Amino acid sequence: MTDEQRPGIEFGKTAGGGGAAGAIHDHVNPVAGVFDDVEPVPGSKKPDPILIADHVTKTFGGLTAVDVEHLEIQRGGITALIGPNGAGKTTFFNLLTGFDKPNTGHVVLDGQSIDGVAPHKLANRGMVRTFQLTKALSRMTVIDNMKLGAVNQTGEHFWRALLPIWKRQEQEIEGRGDALLDRFNLTHMRDEFAGTMSGGQRKLVEMARALMTDPKLVMLDEPMAGVNPALTQSLLGHVKGLRAEGRTVIFVEHDMDVVHDISDWVVVMAEGAIIAEGTPDDIAANPDVIDAYLGSHHDSDFESWSDDEIAQAESADDTPAGEEGSP
Ligand SMILES: Nc1ncnc2c1ncn2[C@@H]1O[C@H](COP(=O)(O)OP(=O)(O)O)[C@@H](O)[C@H]1O
Ligand SMILES: [Mg+2]
Repeated sequence: MTDEQRPGIEFGKTAGGGGAAGAIHDHVNPVAGVFDDVEPVPGSKKPDPILIADHVTKTFGGLTAVDVEHLEIQRGGITALIGPNGAGKTTFFNLLTGFDKPNTGHVVLDGQSIDGVAPHKLANRGMVRTFQLTKALSRMTVIDNMKLGAVNQTGEHFWRALLPIWKRQEQEIEGRGDALLDRFNLTHMRDEFAGTMSGGQRKLVEMARALMTDPKLVMLDEPMAGVNPALTQSLLGHVKGLRAEGRTVIFVEHDMDVVHDISDWVVVMAEGAIIAEGTPDDIAANPDVIDAYLGSHHDSDFESWSDDEIAQAESADDTPAGEEGSP
């Protein structure tokens, strides 16, 4: 089926040219072919799942925000989590990453239960996330934001700074931060306050900062939202780069062209539940997915978020003590 014949949702026509990221960042895909025998149905088994969620539910008052029966995330792939606004994507991310507690359910990372494990401990075990709204600290320099990524994520305490070993560690951490800034073409911003950066640069810093703990699983909540097309291509290249170096990526994204361009597998949420899984092509042709989007979009724009929606989605309990500003 060609793009023109595909019903409902326009997938795969990347604005600005899907080939651009590939041309600039010529990354190999270590999981090419891995999904060929995976059934495109909700809850399908994966050959080598790094993350498994079972019966994960979360309610807010009378509202069921998340109700995920079973989900397996394939190791080494880029999995997109899509769905209309309010589908429960951010809440599900919060539950998987320890930023919120589910009412029921279990999550297994690399064969080990992570139920009730705090975010910084999950970082030690190889799982980090970024936020829909960037959490870069405006009044800290970019390099200090990077260093905080290592400190916060590993749960270091400020008193460790008094120990002699910390000095050596700090140099090592700063070196890692500088190397990542270089990789993300942000070296020129190193000593600027993060508050002076554009929204797109903040997204880059947040992705770079997430890598400070050398994670095996990187979870990105709307990494390209509000980013101009040029930087979007750059971010896309970086996400493919994470996969090329063997990391697993799960990302939430609204832009279907982006999803089609970089995802190996797509998981669709609606009203808290997973309603479809498949390759980008499977999903583009799936009538349930088209219904879910059409049903929810006559009254809300795909891309635009009201301040209220953002404030609600990124509410205070998104951020446990110590996540930001209080090492
Ligand atoms: N802290 C909260 N308190 C009450 N309701 C919430 C909270 N966080 C999210 N919700 C609600 O849960 C549902 C799912 O929200 P969210 O996970 O942010 O969706 P998505 O990220 O897919 O847009 C929405 O109806 C939202 O209003
Ligand atoms: Mg969200």
